[in-house]
Amino acid sequence: MVIRRFRPHPAGCGKTLLSAGILLLLPVLCSAAVSEEEATAPKTGRELYLAACAACHGADGRGQPQSMVGFDLPLPDFADSSFISREPREDWVAVSQLGGPVRRFSELMPSFKGVLTTDESRRIVSYIHSFNQDKSWPAGEHNLPRPLVTEKAFPEDEVVFSASGDLEGSGSIAGKFIYEKRLGSRNQLEVVIPYAWSERGAQDPVSGWHSGVGDIALALKRAFYHSLDRGTIFSAAAEFKLPTGDERRGFGKGTPVLEPFALFGQILPSDFFLQAQAGMEIPLNTDKAGTEAFLRAAFGRSFSAANWGRTFSPMVELLAARELEAGARTHWDIVPQMQVTLSRRQHIMMNFGVRLPLNDTSTRSTQFIVYLLWDWFDGGFFEGW
Ligand code: HEC
Repeated sequence: MVIRRFRPHPAGCGKTLLSAGILLLLPVLCSAAVSEEEATAPKTGRELYLAACAACHGADGRGQPQSMVGFDLPLPDFADSSFISREPREDWVAVSQLGGPVRRFSELMPSFKGVLTTDESRRIVSYIHSFNQDKSWPAGEHNLPRPLVTEKAFPEDEVVFSASGDLEGSGSIAGKFIYEKRLGSRNQLEVVIPYAWSERGAQDPVSGWHSGVGDIALALKRAFYHSLDRGTIFSAAAEFKLPTGDERRGFGKGTPVLEPFALFGQILPSDFFLQAQAGMEIPLNTDKAGTEAFLRAAFGRSFSAANWGRTFSPMVELLAARELEAGARTHWDIVPQMQVTLSRRQHIMMNFGVRLPLNDTSTRSTQFIVYLLWDWFDGGFFEGW
């Protein structure tokens, strides 16, 4: 059954039905009721929103009071720039078509499948975004899948646990705990706590397996430019690594290191994307480590399973790093990888891949890299599965 005709003022209809307690049938019944009348077919996102959504979400998008809707669950505030600019619009098209449960939200958010076409849902979601008046927040579309090595330009609220290690021979496993917190519309604070397990050879004064915390880093990032029309986001960041790691055991550089870098994200047609990072690692004590320049780029595409299901994002990264001294060689690596969303909410993801050195392979071995990512703004770790 596809009923596409609405009258722009069914708020009264919504209220009567809500008090009758047949919430889940609301969209179907409301539209059936209005479609029998001689209603002119409304076309704009606004008209469709007022007809299908405003009974609960309010004409201003801020959510009707509990006394009007008849349930306790707080309604989201679509005029809140921080809330509305987190994820791509298509995510809300999914919620509008399939109802709250598709992203493990409450079933009080009904499904409009068969009542609204996907295209109509897209128009409504576009209209909902006009409630957000503060354009300094980069749109959720810029929130591209996180590559294993290249950092993202989008400022995030997330936690990432990552691990990497050599696939050949004895070696080490390096873990990282990354905490990212958004500050306002464009800024992000980041804390990185590295942890390592490594094996030192028998001739080493500290032979055997060791573990310890590495050089803890603090970073500030700011999105300087973003345009949804162009699909481009550009940020700059500065990271400061403190020499907290035990240098003797190979867990730290033994000197504070300053790392300025620039970040770029580009949305391409057909869900392809490109991300890049360029920067320098500048040790404050140059006796301990050399200054290094690096360039990283990630190219990939997102695929969603049918009906806005699990998202798979295969990516490949190309990494280049070179010590800034005469005669140094540029190290090249390639990192094929796959990011997968684990939770229905799509706020828990994992990514796994291998880092393959393209040159100097006698001194550099192939590594595995994995991460588990939790977008904590979207819900608790155990919520939304
Ligand atoms: C019967 C009341 C009702 C109607 C009608 C309704 N919604 Fe909702 N909606 C809710 C509730 C309740 C929530 C909060 C769900 C939760 O937090 O678990 C919600 C949440 C949402 C969200 C937020 C999802 C998120 O990421 O947090 C979106 C988007 C949304 N609704 C879109 C729509 C659209 C579009 C329409 C009209 C086509 C609509 N809703 C109609 C009750 C309703």
